[in-house]
Amino acid sequence: MADQSEPRSLMRTVQDFLKSEEETYGRFQLPDISQKNKGGFEDLRHDPDAAIPVTESETESPANAKNLDELLAICLKADVLRTDLADTNLVFGTGNPDADLMLIGEAPGLQEDKQGEPFVGRAGQLLNKILAAISFQRHEVYIANILKHRPPNNRDPKPEERDRSLPYLYRQIELIRPKLILCLGRVSAQTLLNTNEPMKHLRSRFHPFHNGIELMVTFHPAALLRNPAWKRDTWDDVRMLRKRYDELTGTSG
Ligand code: URA
Ligand code: URA
Repeated sequence: MADQSEPRSLMRTVQDFLKSEEETYGRFQLPDISQKNKGGFEDLRHDPDAAIPVTESETESPANAKNLDELLAICLKADVLRTDLADTNLVFGTGNPDADLMLIGEAPGLQEDKQGEPFVGRAGQLLNKILAAISFQRHEVYIANILKHRPPNNRDPKPEERDRSLPYLYRQIELIRPKLILCLGRVSAQTLLNTNEPMKHLRSRFHPFHNGIELMVTFHPAALLRNPAWKRDTWDDVRMLRKRYDELTGTSG
């Protein structure tokens, strides 16, 4: 830890941190505070030709999307979906647009950001195995996240980031109209159920969600990579989910 009373060592710590960030995220620049207000809002008063800054109200509402393609186009332009990590790719969602089962994780990680697709890294490999264990292939279900852009250092999504993303995710759910939602992990579960209850109270049962959708919660695959002992409970959860899926869709399981 940096000693606050030693500005030199603190400075070095900050420099080392920025260097490691640069190695992870690529080159970036700190804002140049010496050019205060250059091109910013303040300047508008003096420069009649300055561009009018884009405000949130000019972002097209996700409610206008009549299908997933239109929602994707709106999301691609929606800066409100971004985190404070620069130059990330949109990770919209993947799978069957008519899926009866929708899986919702937390936020894209490094691999997901690179490939523009949810759950393609290590956690995604495990998720594919979990799906296979209950006889689903990835393309049969629909997979999305609470956030559509990667947060820096894979930190937890901030409440305001979740709030800004939710209207887009809700519209996505409305357009897909699944019968069942599986929340992967605490962040997804607490966000969609609007609760602070811990995982142990949320897992393993069906919660009523909007429009008659039933929502189940299980562990996040990344949590299973850290705690393999939780795999057995996850297996119980997803078997229960498969049974309910078969009942709701009239599939003989
Ligand atoms: N973890 C998530 O929650 N979502 C992803 O897409 C990848 C990892
Ligand atoms: N914490 C999480 O974020 N996810 C889990 O699945 C369990 C604990």
